[in-house]
Amino acid sequence: MTEEIHTRDNMDGVDKTIAAMHKYHHQSGLIFTNLVDFDMVYHHRRNVEGYAAALEELVSKRISSMNVYELIKKKRDGLELSQKEIGFLINGFVTGQIPDYQMTAFLMAVYFKGMCDRECVELTMAMANSGDQVDLSAIQGCKVDKHSTGGVGDKTTLVLAPLVAASGGIVAKMTGRELGHTGGTVDKLESIPGFQVELSKDQFVGIVNDIHLSLIAQTASLAPADKQIYALRNVTATVDSIPLIASSIMSKKLAAGSDGIVLDVKTGRGAFTPSYEDALELAKTMVDIGESAGRKVVALITGMEQPLGYAIGNAIEVKEAIDTLRGNGPGDLVELVTELGSDMLCVSGVVAAREKARSIIAENLANDKGLNRLADLIIAQGGDSVVLDKTDLLPQPAQKIEVTCQATGYVSAIDALEVGLAAKILGAGRKTKDDAIDHSIGIYLKKKIGDKVATGDPLAVFYSDGDEEKIEPARKKLFAAYSFDLNKVDPPKLIHARVTKDGVDEL
Ligand code: URA
Repeated sequence: MTEEIHTRDNMDGVDKTIAAMHKYHHQSGLIFTNLVDFDMVYHHRRNVEGYAAALEELVSKRISSMNVYELIKKKRDGLELSQKEIGFLINGFVTGQIPDYQMTAFLMAVYFKGMCDRECVELTMAMANSGDQVDLSAIQGCKVDKHSTGGVGDKTTLVLAPLVAASGGIVAKMTGRELGHTGGTVDKLESIPGFQVELSKDQFVGIVNDIHLSLIAQTASLAPADKQIYALRNVTATVDSIPLIASSIMSKKLAAGSDGIVLDVKTGRGAFTPSYEDALELAKTMVDIGESAGRKVVALITGMEQPLGYAIGNAIEVKEAIDTLRGNGPGDLVELVTELGSDMLCVSGVVAAREKARSIIAENLANDKGLNRLADLIIAQGGDSVVLDKTDLLPQPAQKIEVTCQATGYVSAIDALEVGLAAKILGAGRKTKDDAIDHSIGIYLKKKIGDKVATGDPLAVFYSDGDEEKIEPARKKLFAAYSFDLNKVDPPKLIHARVTKDGVDEL
């Protein structure tokens, strides 16, 4: 026997057992603990209530004394964590009992060792349960949400949400602000004069009941664990981890309460998962998480080999979305909206066949029903719907500066990440999280992959605040984003695959 330790009572026994576990953690062996109160105080089960209370106290003590060090080590060594252990880490972090440095070490361990499907589901549920669960039961019918993993020029929601609502779907959506080099729908909506993104739950539900559509900002109490964990990931090189991205996105989607979720998982240089294989794994993981939580989930894997559409910024993307709802949208945006929209209608049960759903979406793009629903949304959320006819009421830049091409041939690649960063240099994003955003800033591309160019042709237009210090570096970044080829180049494929609980359909 290595050591004999005397204990005062049950809890002293537990504390000393845990202390011995730490002291001898390099050795294997057996610790025998006799919890004395069960005999001496409760006389086995003759005092049933006392015995039960002591058991409960014991269980809560065991959980609260889980050792963060041991859990980090377990994951670092590639072992699976139990549901209780994951819950302990998330709750401990949100309540401030687990410090940033330990959570960061745990996140890095997940980054290198990954998580199995069960752990991903349990991590997501722990994060979803860390704050409010939005109850949408006061809205009749199947509510459908959409989420993009983030892209450059991705104004899809602004077109898609009104179009789906005009086609019979119900969209009650909480949406985010810019993340890294990617833009956020909330920032874009705020460039519409008067548009309110912060509404009470009753206002939100009331608007959805009236027009089957509302778009509001995520509240701070929605999955707060994600907010805190994301802030750490952002500064510790742990963003691009599939279990961490999947749990981050799905915790917010599950807490936001919709019955169906359509995911747009981006692949390509401008995406958080650039490789197709990683995007596919992310899509499968998120579908599995959502279906395990009883939601209907479909994911499309779509290309971010170049920015979506021509406009990158806030007001400038709202203008492109309005043009698209008028039937004058760029081909890639229209294709994406049609495909995602048809999935949203099928997931909602509005239409059974995807072909039929596609034709409904196309019809409502052509007959302005989607545009009219956007007008209803703007009015319902306090905005001025005149912008739909007079887009120059949107914030306008101090200067529009043409950037000309320095090569001849065909555009063969446009690195979306670099274009996103060029827009940020011009001032289209925030420098710190509390910065006000200048909605008028952005980049309008004049050339996309496959377009023929000659030296001196317009390549893009900068929507600038006139600050010379920003223009030259942004111009350099934009040039670095473009590649050219003397031979003709085809535009890249946009829609790669559809992932459902039944499997993967390569398209
Ligand atoms: N979007 C999110 O909400 N979370 C991530 O981790 C990545 C993209």
